[in-house]
Amino acid sequence: MLPTVAWKDDHVLMVDQRKLPGQEVYVELRTAREVARAIEKMVIRGAPAIGVAAAMGLALGVTKSRAKGSAGLAAEFYRLCDVMAATRPTAVNLFWAIARMKSVFSDAVRAGRSADEIGGIVVTEAGRIHDEDVACCRALGEHGAALLPDDGRVLTHCNAGALATGGYGTALGVIRAAVEGGKRIAVYADETRPFLQGSRLTAWELLRDGIDTTVVTDGMAGSLLSGGKVDAVVVGADRIAANGDVANKIGTYPVAVLAREHRVPFYVAAPTSTIDLATADGEGIPIEERSPREVTHVGSSRVAAEGAGVWNPAFDVTPHRFIAGIITERGVCRPPYGESLAAACVRG
Ligand code: MRU
Repeated sequence: MLPTVAWKDDHVLMVDQRKLPGQEVYVELRTAREVARAIEKMVIRGAPAIGVAAAMGLALGVTKSRAKGSAGLAAEFYRLCDVMAATRPTAVNLFWAIARMKSVFSDAVRAGRSADEIGGIVVTEAGRIHDEDVACCRALGEHGAALLPDDGRVLTHCNAGALATGGYGTALGVIRAAVEGGKRIAVYADETRPFLQGSRLTAWELLRDGIDTTVVTDGMAGSLLSGGKVDAVVVGADRIAANGDVANKIGTYPVAVLAREHRVPFYVAAPTSTIDLATADGEGIPIEERSPREVTHVGSSRVAAEGAGVWNPAFDVTPHRFIAGIITERGVCRPPYGESLAAACVRG
């Protein structure tokens, strides 16, 4: 399985996703602040992967702390939690993972544990978050695979694969599980402007697994769907509001509208850690805006006219009415999502 991110005693190891597919470069991050910067700069990206990386980063922060006494350690830990939380605003898995780390940390401090013991506890929790994410991907992959035809074509947007999670993937986990189960699935991967997660990352990791993959530019999805070339759309999510509205990579919403127009089922695959019951609907989801340079340049080459204004929201919101099902590790949630998502979260 692809090594997206790993804990290595005194550092966190991750593949630099900005350099794929041209170069497979691994970076060693030795402090919590280095991990935070890697998340911000998209060395690692994808909602569940960001959560796992943040947890490991906080574990680094505790194990490497030179603070004297538990009060000093706590002050440093909570400062690092704030640094981590300020990296990217949309993926709720980040805040979910930080909350889990805070919870085990404060329990350990309250129980009077030594700094060494607290270090061990937070490292274990980060490992658990990682392992659970992989298990979630495997489980939701099985649930989602049952929704795909035995022989069919799936359109996906962005990268919701092994690279975007602890491993295996959400949308790509569904595709992998279907293929592993003997289904013949061919994938159309939207290029996903401007960061090109589809053409660079999704195509790279699916081809490594021998899965038939065709890259299309984002604007071609309409022709694919109107031409009857797609049997199902499966995408990931960065945050799912209580009513089932889904924030995902910019360009997901138009695909959902097109899928509805052409009567192709549009599915979202995500672990329950991506469900944010505290946010009522999509209006409440903060949408990250990124540097104009991502739009004006491809690599180091300028592709936009000098002087043009740029708007670069990293995510959009797909209203729940376009979504045929939300595939989680606990089963497939169907409308009305207010009830089915709440039930899926409680089942944990
Ligand atoms: O900006 P990114 O690359 O972090 O955005 C990633 C996505 O939008 C993914 O589709 C989402 O996080 C789901 S990953 C399993």
